[in-house]
Amino acid sequence: MTVSVAPDVATRAGRAGPPIPSVSLAEMDEIPIETLIRFALRDGRRPRPIYTAHKWFARRLPSVFRSLLIGVSHAPGSDFNALYYGDAHLRGTVVLDPFVGGGTSVFEASRLGATAYGCDVDPVACAVSRLELEAADMPDLRHTLDTLKKQVGEVMAPFHKSGDDLVLHHFWVQHVTCGTCTTGFDAHPHYILSDDGKTRFAICSQCGEVAVLPPGTAEFDCGLCGGHTVCDAGHGKGGRVVCPECTHSEALIEYSRRTGAPEWRLFAVETIGKTEDRKVVPISKRVLRRATDEDRRQYDAAAATLALGLSDGTLELPGDPIEAEGWSDDRLTSYGYRRWTDLFRDAAGATPQRLGTPRYDGSSGTQFRVTIEGRIVGCQRRE
Ligand SMILES: C[S@@+](CC[C@H](N)C(=O)[O-])C[C@H]1O[C@@H](n2cnc3c(N)ncnc32)[C@H](O)[C@@H]1O
Ligand SMILES: [Zn+2]
Ligand SMILES: [Zn+2]
Repeated sequence: MTVSVAPDVATRAGRAGPPIPSVSLAEMDEIPIETLIRFALRDGRRPRPIYTAHKWFARRLPSVFRSLLIGVSHAPGSDFNALYYGDAHLRGTVVLDPFVGGGTSVFEASRLGATAYGCDVDPVACAVSRLELEAADMPDLRHTLDTLKKQVGEVMAPFHKSGDDLVLHHFWVQHVTCGTCTTGFDAHPHYILSDDGKTRFAICSQCGEVAVLPPGTAEFDCGLCGGHTVCDAGHGKGGRVVCPECTHSEALIEYSRRTGAPEWRLFAVETIGKTEDRKVVPISKRVLRRATDEDRRQYDAAAATLALGLSDGTLELPGDPIEAEGWSDDRLTSYGYRRWTDLFRDAAGATPQRLGTPRYDGSSGTQFRVTIEGRIVGCQRRE
């Protein structure tokens, strides 16, 4: 199936622009790559808000598309920097991306004034791209956001708390029971939680305590239990697990065929201080720590809230089964997933339901659905 981004929403054409030259800046290798690298670094650190609306899995950098569009539509000798910083326009030009993905190409083309079309075999790609192209005409959503904060935020907030701080991420690991000796163990592929080049956070392979280490540390002794951890030497690698007790090795997919849907264990959380004013807390102030019983209790409370809502009919989740036949790849069912909702943790599953509760005015419902889908894709952090 091919779904087109509706031409009307993709169209921002004005008067005709200059014709596309027969030989362009791009063909004469006149796009300044060194400048582009600097743009790319900035783009990667701080994406334009519109691209944060959905965590599309394979996004090329907007600066690359802007440069390419300028490069192919201007003659050699043109002042690339002046064009990039504002002089360029593609009014009267039609741009088509037949594999539009997250829509960066069509959005950048549209920003330059082109009439942009995209299509994709994946309807989510089309929905994301359509959202981006419609953004300029979106109604002011502040009122809806305030309603959401009240109706949903207040219900969800207790499930994402760590004292006075906020829980940004929950880290889960698959817990497996050896098929030979029945020892239970976590299938960590490695023990590194994060390494930003300044600090490495790693977990102790023996007791699960989080160690704060210099970047790139290969192995360490735990400050709590004294146990030794080789950061790269987890029990799960390349889709296989090796039992730490008896060294029995099994492919995770075979394991799931035998035992059903994977069992997950909450082992760490990332938290950050909360400010009352609108100031952003720098990400360097985040804390990664071992998950506590209180974190698990919060998760259980979220799951119980979801279960209660489902049983009394105030919440509803689509129960569609995952069809066993007709896939080019049978991994989902082989891993024991039977329904689409099995792919979400209960707390995340509760989120779209809660977010579905307020009534939206007109078209903003679609925008919220796409954004929420993007958030959920982003929050399914599993090892
Ligand atoms: C890597 S993305 C490219 C996105 C975008 N062009 C970019 O460069 O950022 C590739 C996209 O091609 C789509 N795709 C693959 N085969 C396709 C087909 N036969 N028809 C339409 N789209 C297809 C995929 O769904 C995916 O969204
Ligand atoms: Zn074993
Ligand atoms: Zn330890």
